[in-house]
Order: sequence, then structure tokens, then C-alpha cells
Amino acid sequence: MIREETKPPASLDQIKGWFPKVDQLLFTWFLERQERLGQHGDLVELGSYLGKSAVLMGRHLRGDENFTVCDLFDSEAPDDSNQAEMNGSYSTLTRQAFEANYTAFHDRLPEIVQAPTSQILEHVDPDSCRFVHVDASHLYEHVHADIDASHVMLPDDGVVVCDDYRSEHTPGVSAAVWEAVAVDGLRPICVTTQKLYGVWGDMEPVQKDLLEWLAGREDLWHEVQQVAGRPLVRVKGKSSSAKKDEVAKLKERLARTERKLADTRDELRCVRESVSFRVGRSVTALPRSMRRRNPGE
Ligand SMILES: C[S@@+](CC[C@H](N)C(=O)[O-])C[C@H]1O[C@@H](n2cnc3c(N)ncnc32)[C@H](O)[C@@H]1O
Repeated sequence: MIREETKPPASLDQIKGWFPKVDQLLFTWFLERQERLGQHGDLVELGSYLGKSAVLMGRHLRGDENFTVCDLFDSEAPDDSNQAEMNGSYSTLTRQAFEANYTAFHDRLPEIVQAPTSQILEHVDPDSCRFVHVDASHLYEHVHADIDASHVMLPDDGVVVCDDYRSEHTPGVSAAVWEAVAVDGLRPICVTTQKLYGVWGDMEPVQKDLLEWLAGREDLWHEVQQVAGRPLVRVKGKSSSAKKDEVAKLKERLARTERKLADTRDELRCVRESVSFRVGRSVTALPRSMRRRNPGE
């Protein structure tokens, strides 16, 4: 059998995954800010799938830093519920596909831990990281442990990003994330539709810088809400809301056109009825402009 060669992806958009544009912008902003401030540390991703977010994170790796990704890829999950999750959502995933995608953008692979995320602390030292993306299993017990591990790996100013903290299909992630906020001292800086960004220490300096950056962004909408006595920034890509506005306007135009069309049909029916009524009696009863012209006339 001849194996079909798949072309390597040329852009992030060509890698299958769950990594919206607004989060791509925020990952870039958080990582570049750390670089600007001279914050050193390793990068960790728990759950990489085909590498969409890993490829972006890898762009910010400096010479003396490590990037570790931890994923089961095509291995067995540590428990039945996690295996069911794997079978349902990531059944075609292979480590080879991840590696092919990653090396389409970077010369060197990250350190790959092909194992349950519960083993991450065997590979990453405490306080050694500056950025951790928690996006592996979406079941409460696993996410709770992954967030705890991020607390161990990150110093106070390190950034943790939690995926799917509010999705309808992932209530376990919501429970684990908000528990970390309410009980364990995670300080949320901002949220998007899909991800929550936080630190384990003082969130004020980074949140202040974020608001300054957002104020100058035409493509991003934001607001600040008070949540349990602390400010929390909500960020959204403007393009999607602009598209929604556009669709609403088009629907309104379509409805107006349909109403006009219905009125015109009614008028036409009235004219036809009056014409046939009058024609039935006498064609001369019609106004001159509505009489049928005789070519010989
Ligand atoms: C939502 S995907 C990651 C998406 C990726 N970050 C992106 O942006 O495209 C979740 C990944 O977690 C992995 N995973 C699920 N349970 C895991 C576990 N217990 N340990 C390690 N990886 C796990 C799956 O294999 C899958 O690749």
C-alpha cells in the first residue's frame, strides 16, 4: 500500500487543535513581557495534542531555557475515565504527528514526556518555570493535580494558563480552577472565552501592564469585573463580535427586503384582481395607461 505523504503545516492555522486567535495573542504578550523584564525560566505544556499551542510557546524559548511537553499521545491513559476521554477526543493522535508538526517550525524538539501528567514533577524542578499551560485531561482529579503541579513548578511571578475553565462539557475543569482560586491562592489576571491566566503571587503589576497593552489594541475588546474583591480582566477578539454585528445587520436587511417583497406581491394581486374584474365588465373602464396596447393602434 502506498502511504500518502502529508504536507508539513506552513502556519499555525494549519495545525488541528484548540487555540483561538485571542489566546495566541495573549500567550505571545505574556511570554514577550517576561522576556522584556528579563524573567528567565523554563516552559511547560501539559497536554499538547498536535502541537498547535506548543509551536507558539516554542517560539519564545531562549538558549538557556528548556521546554517540556507532557502528553500521553498514543499511550494508555492511567484510568478508565481518562481512557474514555482519550478515545472520544484524541483517538487519532500520535506522537509522530506532534513531532512532524513541531519540527515544521522549530529545529529542535522540546523535551517530550510521554506519560500521564501526574509524572511531570519527576522531570521538572520546583520553581524552575516561567510559563505553564495546563491543557491535558479535562477531568477534575487530573486538572486539580496539574494545577497543583504548576504551583510547584512556578515561582510567584510565573504564569499559569488553564484551558476550558468554563466550558459546558468540562465542569471538572471549572471546579478545579475556581477551587485553586478560592482555596489555594491562584490569582486570576484575565480570562478569555476558553482560558484563564493567573499567577501564584502578586497579580497587580502584570494586570496593570496588560490593561495598558489592551488599551492600545483595536482588535481586542476588554472590560474589568470585580470577582471576589479583585479585578479580573475579560478579553475578547473584536473580529468575532464585529462578524456577529455584520450577520445581524444582514439578517435585518433580508427581513426588510422580504417585507417589501410581500407588500409588492399584495399590491400586484390587488391590481390583477381589479383588472380582471373590470376587464370582465369593460376594458374601457381601465385607465388608459393600464389598457393593453394594440400594435396596430
Ligand atoms: C485539549 S488537548 C491539548 C490541545 C493543545 N494544547 C492545543 O492547543 O492544540 C489535550 C491533550 O491532553 C492529552 N492528555 C489527556 N489526558 C492526559 C493525561 N492524563 N496525561 C497526559 N496527557 C493527557 C491528550 O492526549 C491530548 O493530546
